[in-house]
Amino acid sequence: MKKLIAALLFLPLTAIASEDVYLDHAPVNLSNYASIQRGARLFTNYCLSCHSADYMRYNRLEDVGLTPEQITSNFIFDPNKKVGDTMTIAMRPDDAKAWFGASPPDLTVEARARTPDWIYTYLRSFYVDSSRPTGWNNTVFDKVGMPNVLWSLQGKQALKKPGENGSKPEFEMAEAGKMSADQYDAAVGDLVNYLTFMSEPTKMKRMEVGVYVLAFLGLFFVLAYFLKKEFWKDIH
Ligand code: HEC
Repeated sequence: MKKLIAALLFLPLTAIASEDVYLDHAPVNLSNYASIQRGARLFTNYCLSCHSADYMRYNRLEDVGLTPEQITSNFIFDPNKKVGDTMTIAMRPDDAKAWFGASPPDLTVEARARTPDWIYTYLRSFYVDSSRPTGWNNTVFDKVGMPNVLWSLQGKQALKKPGENGSKPEFEMAEAGKMSADQYDAAVGDLVNYLTFMSEPTKMKRMEVGVYVLAFLGLFFVLAYFLKKEFWKDIH
């Protein structure tokens, strides 16, 4: 019985480990609002054409220090949309499936579904592969239907050595992009920071409120303790 419980407890871990893909660590920092803003800009420019974020309202960006006017002029490109609307897109899933072989999933909670590390590594692991319909493949997601939409920034990588059994794959730059490797890593870091924020926009607020709740409980404990002592002092 004990063995069975232990096996069940560790089952999720073994399931993750058996994927055997090398993952870099994503530089997520939810208190860095400037980074989240830059990430939101990349997201609305490069991702929102194919992927939706149906559960994210544009005005949630006010939580990271933007005004409604800034959001409207810098992040909303569809004239029919208002700042209180959600990040839906016009592309139909069936069309997408016909074009890419798979429909691009909604990305609202992707950072929680896949982990920030996974997305961070994925977006930096596209390489040219002429055998694929899009011309792209990915070491984190083999035969992926998504092309490298950030190639103009990153450049075109070729795969030098595939990573076997969880080791880090090696790439070489076949055609340079607008950014250096460090700049591109930082940009993808911002993007993943934004995706993490979007998957739980109230996380920072929750942690802030949590501190007050715990402080209140601590104070209340002291009060309750002395009150109890007072009530019970004549009862023996
Ligand atoms: C040209 C359309 C297109 C654009 C633009 C695009 N994607 Fe994708 N994306 C796809 C498709 C199609 C898939 C599904 C791939 C598959 O299942 O083979 C996908 C899959 C993904 C996945 C993996 C989903 C999963 O869990 O299986 C992530 C993460 C992702 N995209 C992130 C992004 C980000 C971030 C951007 C913006 C930088 C972006 N995508 C821009 C088409 C696109």
